[in-house]
Amino acid sequence: MAYNDFSMDNHWLPFTPNRHFRKEPRVFVAAEGMHFTTHEGLQVIDGISSLWCVGAGHARAPINEAIKKQLDTLDYATAFQASNDKAFQAAEMIAAMAPGDLNKVLFCNSGSEAADTALKVALAYHRARGEGHRNIFIGREKGYHGVGFGGMSVGGIPANRKVYGAALLPRVDHLRFIHDPVNHAYIHNEEPVWNEDPLLELENRILPLHDASNVAAVIVEPVAGSAGWYLPPKGYLARLREICDKHGILLIFDEVITGFGRLGTNFGADFYGVVPDMLTFAKCVTNGVIPLGGVICRDKLYDQMMKTDAPEHVVEFFHGYTYSGHPVACAAAMATLTLYKQENLFARAAEMGKLLGDAFHATFKGMPNVIGIRSLGLAAAVELAPLAGAPGKRAYNIFLDCFRAGSLVRPAGDVVVIAPPYIVEKSHIDTLVNTLADAIRKNA
Ligand SMILES: Cc1ncc(COP(=O)(O)O)c(C=O)c1O
Repeated sequence: MAYNDFSMDNHWLPFTPNRHFRKEPRVFVAAEGMHFTTHEGLQVIDGISSLWCVGAGHARAPINEAIKKQLDTLDYATAFQASNDKAFQAAEMIAAMAPGDLNKVLFCNSGSEAADTALKVALAYHRARGEGHRNIFIGREKGYHGVGFGGMSVGGIPANRKVYGAALLPRVDHLRFIHDPVNHAYIHNEEPVWNEDPLLELENRILPLHDASNVAAVIVEPVAGSAGWYLPPKGYLARLREICDKHGILLIFDEVITGFGRLGTNFGADFYGVVPDMLTFAKCVTNGVIPLGGVICRDKLYDQMMKTDAPEHVVEFFHGYTYSGHPVACAAAMATLTLYKQENLFARAAEMGKLLGDAFHATFKGMPNVIGIRSLGLAAAVELAPLAGAPGKRAYNIFLDCFRAGSLVRPAGDVVVIAPPYIVEKSHIDTLVNTLADAIRKNA
């Protein structure tokens, strides 16, 4: 069925070239399982879990039922000075899934809010323990932590920062990027082994420059997702943990993409065996169905904040959102996490990820303009040589051609990423990879 009863005059699309979009709209009107239907009746495979969100596939009855039931029971309740049962229950489930003593969950509504919340916890925590001078944050080049002013400042994707220079947080530095295009252009479900230590600059340059005693936190994505699926060198995250511990610096993992199964484990922290002090999540926690994000904090952060001398009626942490712990979002999260478990979907992500990685390396290596391939978990990226004078255009054109052929893939600069829902079948992987191969050839 085709639906065309909308005008395009008012909706300003996010992170989208709006002028071109109007010429060739891509508008979804329905979704089920692995597929969308567009307003023109085209069936499109969701090759990117709709921005890394839809782990269990679309239109899952247990999640939808939980939402409907919650709407009829408690639609919404103030989040301040009171709460709701679903917020406590969802926090308990999430904390139980998180490693170590990551036990205290602050809810918000998105990955951007989660990043900003984590940065604020870091400042408040250090101040509470008498180290208010620790107010420097360290992010990483090409990192993505959303679009709030905090996340944007610690983020490292140049286009996202370029226009906002004057408004970026002043006390921020960045680690170097973690990609070695010469020795590790092709990474196939493995941890790249670097000959040099990419964290030497943190110890030998960045921390001495600012003085480590002034640094509040380091924030990184375990695997850099939005930039184009860049994997950390072997031992990198463990060493980062060591350095942070040595200097009393908090370590924050932004797990908005790696959280809830993408690497075949609950979190990237589990995959790499490194427990951060805070872990941010969003996206897959509700299967993308309803906005929900959060920060899971180690007990020591919460305990420190509760140790205040202020009278008991005084708020300990002046932060929160009207919709923090929204009962409908939390009901959706519980149904989603239960479904992931019942269907063993994280293990399935790991298993299907091997097929995806194999298909990427077997198909794309040696194709025209392909200069790198990276696969890990249920995500893989193919990197292309940019068109002269037009960075990003080749991948964008490939994305368009794939879409026309019924496959949704994700362009990121000159990288194209596929990260399907965990329910993906081999036949979907074959279709996605073959469609992408045709488009790469066409745009050679
Ligand atoms: C690692 C990471 N952090 C934060 C965000 C921002 O999340 P949101 O778009 O929900 O604000 C994203 C979004 O892609 C992300 O990948």
